[in-house]
Amino acid sequence: MNRFIQARTEEVKYHEDFYAHHILFEPGSWLSKPVKIVLDMLDELDLDHIHVLDLGCGVGRNSIPIAQRIKPHNGRITCVDLLPMAVNQLVTNSRKYDVHELIVSEAADVEAYDIPDNSYEYIVACSCLEHVSSVEAFRMVVSRMIEGTKNQGINAILMSTENLDVDIETGKVSNGIIELNMKTADTFSLLHELYRDWDILVEKSVSQSIHERKYEKEIDFRSNWLTFLARK
Ligand SMILES: C[S@@+](CC[C@H](N)C(=O)[O-])C[C@H]1O[C@@H](n2cnc3c(N)ncnc32)[C@H](O)[C@@H]1O
Repeated sequence: MNRFIQARTEEVKYHEDFYAHHILFEPGSWLSKPVKIVLDMLDELDLDHIHVLDLGCGVGRNSIPIAQRIKPHNGRITCVDLLPMAVNQLVTNSRKYDVHELIVSEAADVEAYDIPDNSYEYIVACSCLEHVSSVEAFRMVVSRMIEGTKNQGINAILMSTENLDVDIETGKVSNGIIELNMKTADTFSLLHELYRDWDILVEKSVSQSIHERKYEKEIDFRSNWLTFLARK
């Protein structure tokens, strides 16, 4: 099996299993709360009739709280995820949290997803861009995000870089099996190149470690978690 297909297969398996066994905002899981900086950035935007795009939205950890925030301002949010199952759960969650009418959802691979030019005030890609097939695909998706953002709009990219898998039983360390395993420094340089005309608001990386069950094994998934936010 080629490496991309293997990584994509594992990715789908992991998320389908995870979403089947954990509910949105479940304490103790990574779904327990939205990513603070993603929500905080709404304070920097004019919320009146705001249009938001959430790429790789999952079951709505960020999309639902964003929708709750923008609802009184007649905002709208478009939510895209590779997995139909995630999108179905997102729709169920949007009804549960009474934000259904603000949400447009679509099951699609971000690589094949067209973003209309000049359409959004806020585009979020949280744990999504490390799942595209190549650096060229990464460039293409980010370029679409850039073109799809209105003037003064913000892009938030959060992703894992320099991924390593540590087999908890044997201690064996190997390169993480993920679709795109970029070096942290290379990712920042590429983002600087692509966002050269924008104001960079936040750029940081922290090391993280997440216990996952993958490839029928208990894995300590280690990476540098990169956060990059910029304003057009
Ligand atoms: C770790 S989850 C994060 C979900 C959500 N952004 C959040 O922060 O809770 C990654 C999500 O990205 C989705 N995903 C992975 N590859 C994708 C792709 N190529 N296109 C669209 N979504 C993708 C997965 O299905 C999964 O729901």
